[in-house]
Amino acid sequence: MKKFFVGLALATIAFTGAASAQEAPFAKQIKARQGIMVYRALNIGVLGAMAKGEVEYNAEAAQKAADALVSSGKLDVSMLYVPGSSNAENPDSTVKPEVFTEDLGIGAKAADFNTAAEAMQAAAGGGLDGLKAAMGPLGKSCGGCHEVARIPQN
Ligand code: HEC
Repeated sequence: MKKFFVGLALATIAFTGAASAQEAPFAKQIKARQGIMVYRALNIGVLGAMAKGEVEYNAEAAQKAADALVSSGKLDVSMLYVPGSSNAENPDSTVKPEVFTEDLGIGAKAADFNTAAEAMQAAAGGGLDGLKAAMGPLGKSCGGCHEVARIPQN
């Protein structure tokens, strides 16, 4: 009898383990990559608020935000974007399934972002005009990748 219950408990553990893996594959990888994006959004938000005049220009804060964006582009995210982790397998992600089956040119989109972030890094601390000029291409580089890689967002 005791053996039976132990067996049952083990079977239950194995089952729930499998079930949660099935319901939410790569949940941690998805959380991590979305976290990197939220980090980008926070930092571009600092720059955007200055560009729009909502917040007074501050060279140090602007430089910090631009530096953070450049750093975010240097992370190796290959272990976060793994086949089986798209929106089709896990609705918590907004990554299109084609990202893992077709060449959508995402590497080039990432390179565009890096270029725009570096231009912002060179300009952000040097005055509001330079920051404003670097803002357009930077924002476009975010959207350019989202357009190809993400399920359209409302
Ligand atoms: C090279 C591609 C690429 C670039 C460049 C890029 N993103 Fe993303 N972004 C993605 C992908 C892919 C996702 C979806 C991740 C997921 O849901 O698994 C995403 C998701 C997001 C999200 C939603 C995160 C969440 O919690 O679901 C935000 C916010 C975001 N990006 C902001 C930005 C900003 C701001 C920039 C530019 C400063 C940027 N991204 C640049 C590919 C990119």
